[in-house]
Amino acid sequence: MLQELRLTPLAVSALAGVFVCASAHAVILNPGLNGPVATGAAPPDWFEWQKTPDTCDASGPFNNTPNPWALSPDGGTFVRAGGSDFANAEAIGQDVTGFTGGTSYQIDAYITNLGHEHPTSGDWLGQDGYWELYVNGSLASTSVTLSKPAANTDSIVWSSQSFTFVAPSSDFEIAFVSRSSAGLLAAYMGIDGLHLSEIPTPGSAIGLAAFAVAGAARRRRRA
Ligand SMILES: *[C@@H]1O[C@H](CO)[C@@H](O)[C@H](O)[C@H]1NC(C)=O
Repeated sequence: MLQELRLTPLAVSALAGVFVCASAHAVILNPGLNGPVATGAAPPDWFEWQKTPDTCDASGPFNNTPNPWALSPDGGTFVRAGGSDFANAEAIGQDVTGFTGGTSYQIDAYITNLGHEHPTSGDWLGQDGYWELYVNGSLASTSVTLSKPAANTDSIVWSSQSFTFVAPSSDFEIAFVSRSSAGLLAAYMGIDGLHLSEIPTPGSAIGLAAFAVAGAARRRRRA
């Protein structure tokens, strides 16, 4: 007997992804934020958009806790940035190309709140914090707020977050800015594993294709 082709929502979105990749050239370079571990340095293809974010692995820089930091599911290095009020917040940026102006995109990322153990006093510092996505200097999307770990021995928890924006033109600048819920009192945030996708709009070729495939799968299941 022939195996029935089962199309789960995941398969449908994967299929939509194929259409997106075939029709667009929008690129974010080094989406894994991988590079040499360094204090005050963005990973290759990124720049320090503001202040001095760090490129970290499990041991730091600035991991003064007794335990290695858990890495995100993306692995490799990640970016750590001290969030504050906007003017003092650390941030990474990249000039991106190949987008379609007026089209909506989504960047999925892993984000975390690392907290910060003071190197000499051992005080457990840091605030609740979040990430903001800026597009050509304007705020486009804000993550959920993540609580600082309750204790310095708690393991680091990464969560998945979607940032959405409308491309203002084909080429523009994106920036991920770490922010604190307590203004000038810093939050120490991590980000890793970016994944760019175009958001299919109803009526677009992509949206219709995904819709047709989903409909066909529904009809097959009923038959
Ligand atoms: C965004 O900035 C880029 C330069 O980084 C510029 O070429 C583009 O025209 C800008 N787009 C808008 C809509 O301001």
